[in-house]
Amino acid sequence: LLASAAILVPVVAMAEGETVGFSQIGSESGWRAAETTVTKQQAEERGITLKFADAQQKQENQIKAIRGFVAQGVDAILLAPVVATGWEDVLEEAKDADIPVILLDRNIDAPEDLYMTAVTSDQVHEGMVAGNWLKEAVAGEECPIVELQGTTGSSPAISRKKGFEEAIADAPNLKITRSQTGDFTRAQGKVVMESFLKSEGGANICALYAHNDDMAVGAIQAIKEAGLKPGEDIKIVSIDSVPDIHLAMKAGEANATVELTPNMAGPAFDVLEAYWKDGTMPPKWIQTESKLYTSDDDNAAIYESKKDLGY
Ligand code: AHR
Repeated sequence: LLASAAILVPVVAMAEGETVGFSQIGSESGWRAAETTVTKQQAEERGITLKFADAQQKQENQIKAIRGFVAQGVDAILLAPVVATGWEDVLEEAKDADIPVILLDRNIDAPEDLYMTAVTSDQVHEGMVAGNWLKEAVAGEECPIVELQGTTGSSPAISRKKGFEEAIADAPNLKITRSQTGDFTRAQGKVVMESFLKSEGGANICALYAHNDDMAVGAIQAIKEAGLKPGEDIKIVSIDSVPDIHLAMKAGEANATVELTPNMAGPAFDVLEAYWKDGTMPPKWIQTESKLYTSDDDNAAIYESKKDLGY
């Protein structure tokens, strides 16, 4: 009896009681706030102790946090990397300590053996979905576009720009006339849109492409203050699908958004639990869905379904 009981004892630790460090970028957007909320909820539901570190948009703070997690001997690290470069040294340290690292929502330029997997959307595809939507929406009309980029050097800023440009490359009527970072924040989205309106003149802007909804929401305010109608005088397409953009679409003040799930932690914890159970290694990329919503959708209902999810 004793022998068979011993066989039933798992050889590798289960998730219950494991400790995971999470180096989060900050709270620049509604989407990011939701990702933080969901990650904490997912950890609690699974009995995982989460050590949370807010880097306030600074890579140096993320590097410090990761070193701290390594020193504490956590069982795994989740990293939402603010920028794409500069991670090799600290990830080597985590690797040397046998601590698996999972990237959340952004990619890095580093050898793949430095992390276990990346849970992200296809950010080039997101830009393409936005660009293809606009191409169809303006169907052959001359359309000068202004672009609000995300944080400089971040993988979504780089890839969403690339994907959008690829999508409109075969449409000579679509041209990006101004492009600047709004750092993924509402406040900067508004400031930069004000400067676009000043330099270009509202009549010379047909559409805004914003790398996230928060910047689009800030820009909508700037467009209204300039006496123009967002969504009509200037078409607006952005990324994330946060509740406020659905409110704006319901009011006719925005036109389309590409959804990014804030639940990156769910797949990451699934992978870690499998790894802790029997050593299963995941694929290097776990891709999340990118769904297009437009003003033709039931935006009131979508807003209701999202408004209490921590955005
Ligand atoms: O990396 C994902 C991006 O980061 C989101 O689209 C944006 O809102 C956030 O700040």
